[in-house]
Amino acid sequence: MESTTSLYNEIVRLALERNFFFPSSEIYSDAPAGFYEYGPLAVSMKNKYIEVWRRELIRRDEMVEIDGSQIMPKRVFVASGHLESFTDPITRCKSCNAIFRADKLLEEVLGFPVPERLATEDMDKLILEHNVVCPNCKGKLDKVSKFNMMFRVNVGVSGDECYLRPETCQSIFVDFLRIYKTMRKKLPFAIAQYGKSFRNEISPRQSLIRLREFYQAEIEVFFNPKKANDFPKAREYEDFILRLKPLNEDKILKVSCKESVETGLISSMLVAYYLALIQRFYQIVGIDMERFRLRQLSDEERAFYAKEAWDVEVLTSIGWIELVACNNRTDYDLSGHSRVSGQDLSVYDDGEKIIPHVFELSMGVDRSLLCILEHSYVKESERTVLKLPPMLAPVQVAVFPLVTKDGLDKKAKEVYESLKLDFDTVYDDSGSIGRRYRRQDEIGTPFCVTIDYQTMEDETVTIRDRDTMNQERIAIKDLKRYLMEKLRY
Ligand code: ATP
Ligand code: GLY
Repeated sequence: MESTTSLYNEIVRLALERNFFFPSSEIYSDAPAGFYEYGPLAVSMKNKYIEVWRRELIRRDEMVEIDGSQIMPKRVFVASGHLESFTDPITRCKSCNAIFRADKLLEEVLGFPVPERLATEDMDKLILEHNVVCPNCKGKLDKVSKFNMMFRVNVGVSGDECYLRPETCQSIFVDFLRIYKTMRKKLPFAIAQYGKSFRNEISPRQSLIRLREFYQAEIEVFFNPKKANDFPKAREYEDFILRLKPLNEDKILKVSCKESVETGLISSMLVAYYLALIQRFYQIVGIDMERFRLRQLSDEERAFYAKEAWDVEVLTSIGWIELVACNNRTDYDLSGHSRVSGQDLSVYDDGEKIIPHVFELSMGVDRSLLCILEHSYVKESERTVLKLPPMLAPVQVAVFPLVTKDGLDKKAKEVYESLKLDFDTVYDDSGSIGRRYRRQDEIGTPFCVTIDYQTMEDETVTIRDRDTMNQERIAIKDLKRYLMEKLRY
């Protein structure tokens, strides 16, 4: 593995050149940072990724999915606590006016983690003690203050105070009772949502890692806290080995779900089961498990609403990246919305009236895709290959005529037409066949079909496997079935 950021830079170069993703409004020099567009390849990959998320989490666990509004009224965020607490610590350079996220700047300069929830006075002390100055001009830094990261929008002619949601899950909490009743659910059950979230990040950077507009795929599990250990679904996962990095441990411990609960590392079998599901999901989508961990967060690191938190983290060439926040949010959200809206959001569970507790799996989709790209990227002597799991490949099959004469191109177009409705298929007849294979390898296309002179005689084609580069000869009439079997996982 390459040890520097060069691998990350390679991925960004590939993404730009092959239209995976690129900066938004790029033809305008004043476009703000932190906004990215998905090109055709990333859209295709993202759609497939979300389908695997639906299959492996939503359908497997019998969750329900909603699609809520991105703009919500102020009172939602009074209830959720975001108006008061969704802040980042910032400091301004007194000379050049540059603004920095104080915890991140301190972390970079001091070389040890500085929790974002550390009191601003304590950050001021660290700045003084270690003589931390502006990294741009060496000027003095101002006192640390709090900056709210929500985007305000004024709705309607009267300009009603609303906000772009900073996490997708608030509509899940607001809609909880309606879904619970109309879908005839019983606790425990989960509501999921995939969509955009918006945060006015102070220092957006590293392409898809820190955006101001990004995709989340969130799952909120509603449960009775008294029954979090009496959870039949978890039985199947009792022996599942979690890769945990508890507080005060330097290494990753491999512990079964059952043992992690018995030793008190994880609060309940319900939590352990959902951690197992999310770990399993990342294994399926191509994350190298040797570079995967569930890191337990300290009191200072946890979000203001969480009483227990594990972050899914993946090691990349730019360090460990957080992909999913797994938070035990207790009854914080439903109680808050009950109080502020005046609607009773409690339910009956076996005759007992309770406000359900919530355990969430809050996934960042953009970061996940970037990490999957990096873990799939292989540079061989002759070629660059994205060894993506075939079910995530943006293009699933490429069709080439060996040459564009003697009717081979016409035949290849017929084969292309016969596949394009069932698979993401491209037709390519430009350049040497070797170059065409390389182009597809670089974007992770698992299968290339070539029409040659033998095709004209016996209706067979060659099909080349991206990873082994082996070629098989198969009949055109069997192609569809062959591909369906290979692309199923
Ligand atoms: P970080 O510590 O990196 O700022 P966070 O702890 O603020 O992340 P959460 O609030 O826990 O992130 O959000 C849940 C998930 O949403 C994260 O694990 C991440 O994958 C994703 N996410 C959060 N902020 C961003 C962002 N600015 N750009 C892209 N993805 C993000
Ligand atoms: N819903 C949790 C988060 O976005 O942080």
